[in-house]
Amino acid sequence: MKQFDFLILGSGIAGLSFALQVAPRGRVAIVTKKDRAESNTNYAQGGIAAVTSKEDSFEFHVRDTLAAGAGLCKESVVRSIVEEGPARIQELIELGMKFSEREAQSEDGGRELDLGREGGHSKRRILHAKDVTGREIERALLNAVSRQPNIEIFENHIAIDLITSQKLGYVGENRCLGAYVFEKKNGRVWTFAAPVTLLATGGCGKVYLYTTNPDIATGDGVAMAFRAGASIANMEFVQFHPTCLYHPKAKSFLISEAVRGEGGILKTLEGREFMDGHHQMKSLAPRDIVARAIDSEMKKTGADCVCLDITHKPARFIIERFPNIYQTCLGYGIDITKEPIPVVPAAHYQCGGVVTNVDGETDIAGLYAVGEVACTGLHGANRLASNSLLEALVCAHRAAGKILATRCEQSDLKIPLWQSGSATNADELVVVSHNWDEIRRLMWDYVGIVRTNKRLQRAQSRLANLQAEIHEYYWNFIVTADLLELRNIATVAELIVRCALMRPESRGLNYNLDFPNPNPDWSQRDSVVRRGN
Ligand code: FAD
Ligand code: SIN
Repeated sequence: MKQFDFLILGSGIAGLSFALQVAPRGRVAIVTKKDRAESNTNYAQGGIAAVTSKEDSFEFHVRDTLAAGAGLCKESVVRSIVEEGPARIQELIELGMKFSEREAQSEDGGRELDLGREGGHSKRRILHAKDVTGREIERALLNAVSRQPNIEIFENHIAIDLITSQKLGYVGENRCLGAYVFEKKNGRVWTFAAPVTLLATGGCGKVYLYTTNPDIATGDGVAMAFRAGASIANMEFVQFHPTCLYHPKAKSFLISEAVRGEGGILKTLEGREFMDGHHQMKSLAPRDIVARAIDSEMKKTGADCVCLDITHKPARFIIERFPNIYQTCLGYGIDITKEPIPVVPAAHYQCGGVVTNVDGETDIAGLYAVGEVACTGLHGANRLASNSLLEALVCAHRAAGKILATRCEQSDLKIPLWQSGSATNADELVVVSHNWDEIRRLMWDYVGIVRTNKRLQRAQSRLANLQAEIHEYYWNFIVTADLLELRNIATVAELIVRCALMRPESRGLNYNLDFPNPNPDWSQRDSVVRRGN
C-alpha cells in the first residue's frame, strides 16, 4: 500500500502540468506505463494553438474551433480555454519551453514567436518548436518536475483499475480512493491510495490497425473510468489524421499538418490535385473533410496511398522548418525536397472521453480527468488542429486550482489489497496477441472513416464474443501488461461502436452512409454511455 496526497496516472502534458501545480501542497505520485517521456505528447509535431499575434483575436480562434466542431462544441468551454491559453503558454515559456522564433516583422526589429498554420485555422496561430514541439514540451516539463522533491515518478507501472467506494460495496456517493497498479518488472500489484486521482492517460489510437499514436495509447483511462461508473461521451468522434507516412517499414510516423500549412499540396499518385472539389480551403480544410476526401480518392482509384507534395518550396526552408520529418523520411529513402511524400489517413485523436467540466471534474468524487482522456466539450464533433495541447495545459491548471481551493482529506474507508488470479501459460499469451490484432483490424475495417449501421453491428457482435473470452482470461490468469491493454482496447472499441450506433446522423468525424446528413435533433446532444445503461 502506497499513500499519497495526489495520484496522477500519466506523464504527458496533462499529468506533468497538473503535478507541477499541486506539488507545493502535498506528496505526488506520477504512475506511468513506460519511461517518463513516452506519451502522445512526446510525438506532437505541429504545435499549440493560442492567440498571440495582433492580427489574431480570441473571437477568431473561438469561431474556428466552433466551425471545426460541427455544432457540438460547448461554447462557454471553448471561450474559457481559448482565453486562458496565452497565460498558460507564458508559464510554459517561464518553465523553460523553447518555441521557434523568427525575426520580428515590426520596425523595431528583434525576435518574435514564429506562428505556424494548420487545417481549419483562419490565422497563423500555432506556436511550435520546429516539428518536434511535443518532445520540447516533455523535456521542459520533466526538467521542472525533477526539481520538485514532492513528486515521485513510477515508471513502467500500469494502472489496472480505479478503486472506488461503490466497487468496494460502501453506500453513499461514489468516491475514487486510488488505483491498483501493476509493476511490469516483477508482476507485483500495488495499491495506491490518494484523496485525489487524476486520469491523464491520453487517447486510444491503438484501438485501430493504423494509427499515428505510440504504443501507450490503448484507451486505459476511458476503460478504467467506465468500469468505475463514470460517464463517457462522444467516443464515435475518432479523428483520423489525413497524412501518416505510407511506407512498409514506418510504424506510425506523422507528416504534420504544418507541412500543408506551409504550402504542401495533396495529389493523387499521378500528380492530380484533388482537394479543390471538396472544400474552399483545399489541402488545408478541416481534418474530417481532408481524411474523407483521401479515403474516397483511394477507393475510387484503388491506390494504396495519396501524395503530399512540398517540393515547390526551397529545400533550405523545408529542411530548416521540418528537420525531423525531413530526416525521418530520408531514412526511408524519401527526399521530401525532391519527391512527394506517400501518405494515408490513420487514427490520431480521441475527441470523446470521460465526461468532465472545464475544471477536470468527473461524476465520481475525487476523480479528475484532463487531456485527451477527457471530454470537456472543447472539440465537439471534430477537434481543431493543435487545440489538444492547449486544452491539456489550461484544464490541468484549472483542475489544480479547483482542488487546491478545497480541503482533500484521506478517506478512512478500508481498501483491500489486490487479489491475483492463479495461472498463466504460453498458449493463452498467444491468444492475447491474436485478439489484439483481431480487434484492431475489425475496428479499421468496420468502424473507420466511413461507417454504415450494418458494419457497426457486425463489429458489435464480434466484439461481444471477444469480450467474453477476454473476461475469462482476465479472471482466471495472472495479469500481464498485454492482457491489461487488450482488456482496455476491447472496452474502448465497444464504447466507440456503441456511441456510433447511438447517433443517427453524420456530423464531423462520424460519417455514416445510412444517415448522410446532420440531424437537427442531435445538434446539441452528446452520446453518453455509463456502465449498466
Ligand atoms: P499523453 O501525452 O498521451 O500521455 C498519456 C500518459 O499516460 C503517458 O505517459 C502514458 O504512458 C500514460 N498511461 C496511459 N495509460 C496508462 C496506465 N494504464 N497506467 C499508467 N500510465 C498510463 N496535439 C496538438 O495540440 N498539437 C500537435 O501538434 C499534435 N501533434 C500530434 C502528433 C502525434 C504524432 C500524435 C500522436 C498526437 C498529436 N497531438 C497534437 C495530440 C496530442 O499530442 C495529445 O492529444 C496530447 O499530447 C495528449 O496529452 P495527454 O497528457 O492527455 O496524454
Ligand atoms: C500535426 O502536426 O499535424 C498534428 C497536429 C494535431 O494533431 O493537432
